[in-house]
Amino acid sequence: MSLNRRVNFSTGFLSEESAAYMICTVVGARPNFIKMAPIIMELSRRGLPQVFVHTGQHYDARMSAVFFDELGLPQPDVYLGVGSGTHAEQTARVMLGFEQTCFQYQPRLVIVAGDVNSTLACALSAAKLNIPVAHVEAGLRSNDRTMPEEINRIVTDHLADLLFTTEPSGSEHLRQEGIAAEKIHFVGNSMIDTLRQHVDRAAARRPWEAFGVQPDAYGLVTLHRPSNIDDPATAREIAEALREISVSLPLIFPIHPRTLSKNRELWNATSSLRIVEPLGYLDFLGLMSHSKIVITDSGGIQEETTALGIPCLTLRYNTERPVTITDGTNRLVAPRKDAVLRAFHAPVKHPDRTPELWDGCAAPRIVDVIETVLPSLSNH
Ligand code: UD1
Ligand code: UDP
Repeated sequence: MSLNRRVNFSTGFLSEESAAYMICTVVGARPNFIKMAPIIMELSRRGLPQVFVHTGQHYDARMSAVFFDELGLPQPDVYLGVGSGTHAEQTARVMLGFEQTCFQYQPRLVIVAGDVNSTLACALSAAKLNIPVAHVEAGLRSNDRTMPEEINRIVTDHLADLLFTTEPSGSEHLRQEGIAAEKIHFVGNSMIDTLRQHVDRAAARRPWEAFGVQPDAYGLVTLHRPSNIDDPATAREIAEALREISVSLPLIFPIHPRTLSKNRELWNATSSLRIVEPLGYLDFLGLMSHSKIVITDSGGIQEETTALGIPCLTLRYNTERPVTITDGTNRLVAPRKDAVLRAFHAPVKHPDRTPELWDGCAAPRIVDVIETVLPSLSNH
């Protein structure tokens, strides 16, 4: 099929007009802003025409607007305003809205990142319109299909025409799943581009002062996975472990709105367990860069702590990011009180290296590939 196959507004089918190489960049949830920012900037720097879409999966100012301000992101050209809902509701609302965006803007390529519902929904809408899809952070696998993200990753990867991987395991999984080698590009980690760009400025803000703690003498906590938060017994074990740790090390816990919406009574602050609203990127990064330890179940924070050399306890039985263990500072810990306390007290020597290509230059590599292949990327 020719390169010039375009979407027709009235029918929803593609027509054969020529058009500029319009590239659609998509964000929806907190980690997307951080992963996409350097790619959006690099596309702009090279003068590539772009339509920037925010699905509105995350919408609170502290989960969305703050990242636009701090990372210098432009206002989105399209805001779908999908909000929260069940998986099917949210995914379907993004698909419906994003299909209209595709009709309107006729992008030549859609770039999605990560593994959230918006990632899958936009990839699916685009693929059904025969618009090529690029997936940033492709190939990660936890091999745990109880995680909604694992389903999003697998389906998005199999819809994508360009797959940008952050670590060797990602490329390996894609090859094993039969994806053609020429579609797979190991480029490094764009989330770490953002970190390297902002870490000095973030630490210079000395965000720990607002919490009355000294640098390198506190821990930082985040939790939002359904596997840790939804089951009251598991959530209670974790809360008890945090309370006990905080007796010897003050903990700062910027709490995700999802966590607060479940078993709220468990998450009571004390003077040494500071439960606060979600933080902006710069304050969070500044805090992370001077933490003694981070306790989390976040995907991205496993990677950021590895890049910073800060010890990280990940309260999960598996990780889709194994390079953070082999080449980083991450440790998996069962989400049980005794296991968390044992891991907290056990000193570990971490390797003195960071993962390959986590050098702050992933976005230029991604855009190099896009510029090279875009003229030859045919609609299916
Ligand atoms: C989503 C992603 C998860 C990612 C996380 C990053 C999916 C399936 N999950 O999880 O992979 O790690 O984002 O933070 O896509 N809420 C608010 N305000 C907001 C956004 C959410 O109050 O701005 C609350 C609502 O109660 C909502 C709940 O959080 O129902 C969950 O939001 P949702 O986007 O569905 O999933 P997350 O848990 O945020
Ligand atoms: N983050 C932030 N403020 C917070 C907590 C996290 O800016 O209060 C950043 C963090 O530095 C990382 C990203 O949000 O860049 C991770 O998002 P999250 O943990 O919500 O999602 P996941 O990575 O698990 O998908």
